[in-house]
Amino acid sequence: MSENQKTYTRFSLAERIEHIVLIASFTTLAVTGLVQKFAQSSISISIIAALGGIEITRIIHRAAAIVFLVQAIYHLVAIGYKLYVQRKEASMLPGFKDLQDAFQHFLYNLGLRKERPKMDRYNFVEKAEYWAMVWGLVLMALTGFMMWNPIATARILPGQAIPAAKVAHGAEAILAVLAIFIWHFYHVHLRTFNKSMFTGKLSRHEMEEEHALELEKIEKGLLPPPPSPEELKRRKRIYYPVAAVLSLILLFFVYRFVTYEQTAITTIPPVSAQSENVFVPQTPTPLPTRPPTPTSIPTPAGQSFEGPLSWNNGIGQILVQRCGSCHGAMGGLALNSYETAMKGGRSGAVIVAGDSEASRLVTTVRDGNHPGKFEPQELELIIRWIQEGAQE
Ligand code: HEC
Repeated sequence: MSENQKTYTRFSLAERIEHIVLIASFTTLAVTGLVQKFAQSSISISIIAALGGIEITRIIHRAAAIVFLVQAIYHLVAIGYKLYVQRKEASMLPGFKDLQDAFQHFLYNLGLRKERPKMDRYNFVEKAEYWAMVWGLVLMALTGFMMWNPIATARILPGQAIPAAKVAHGAEAILAVLAIFIWHFYHVHLRTFNKSMFTGKLSRHEMEEEHALELEKIEKGLLPPPPSPEELKRRKRIYYPVAAVLSLILLFFVYRFVTYEQTAITTIPPVSAQSENVFVPQTPTPLPTRPPTPTSIPTPAGQSFEGPLSWNNGIGQILVQRCGSCHGAMGGLALNSYETAMKGGRSGAVIVAGDSEASRLVTTVRDGNHPGKFEPQELELIIRWIQEGAQE
């Protein structure tokens, strides 16, 4: 085999599988999360519908979050294995050399330097990506926990922390997705198509370009020799039980994370549309009470009313009470006196004596979409009053 066809193992099978699980959980989280963040956009609406509704979308998002967390625990165990059992270098730790490399690479890109810096097993770009991912995971897990367990959160933090967590969760999501699409895809798939995460191997040329220092170490035999089989066995005997206990503890935390409190996955039904038509003051401004009229007052529902109806005998009282808060001295239709009520509003009379069906005082209010309403008994009285000639 010539020097140039030689390949170098970069990722083990387990690492490659881990990466595929990561792709799957990350993508699922991104899709089901972004459609919730931008729920009004038409793409989101069709994706949510395709997934089977918002509740299912939220369940899928949470399931993917659990996969992500469990994978993070596996990753910790795997790192422990490399560091303790195999005694490999902690090659992902950032150092001063990374700053130098970044700066020299910058100069190289500008053409101010002839050669790329010689970089080790993980170069500065890979380290930055890796640690951004770790940071993202911590932030997403914390803010995710706060939204998943709002009651527990509000016991420790002020209530505003929950919407704040939502904002942070969504913003970090966009950052992460952009980092993957722009940064990761460019460096790994566009600039040169680096397939090592799928094949496990790098060519000599790729090693020279991106990991020249590691290549040098391999070729000069500078890497520490792998431990002897007995040594490996001895360390595994210690490592496996410790890792098992620690990962069980972490898995227990994940379990608590998920089940800590009963969270409403079901969405709250939308508020009925009629209350959104017109601005309605929640508490109508109190009006000066009228002097009591001598006859019995028919306003509260359920009371019957006897005698000839007139503005002064009952009707005026109803209109002022039910409608006066908006139709008073503010301009437009004023229902606080007989004269103004008969005069009507901006588009003319609202009361046609003798014809309640032509009277908008009745028709506007009857279908229930107007902010002001009459009780059924009151409406009957108003209709009777109009039919009888709308007397003062
Ligand atoms: C919460 C405020 C509010 C209350 C209470 C209210 N209205 Fe109105 N009403 C409005 C507003 C605002 C308009 C103007 C809407 C528009 O521009 O179409 C209006 C318009 C009307 C009109 C059309 C007026 C015109 O200019 O032609 C009628 C009739 C009417 N209301 C009847 C009533 C009656 C009867 C009641 C009592 C049962 C009532 N409204 C109670 C807010 C209210």
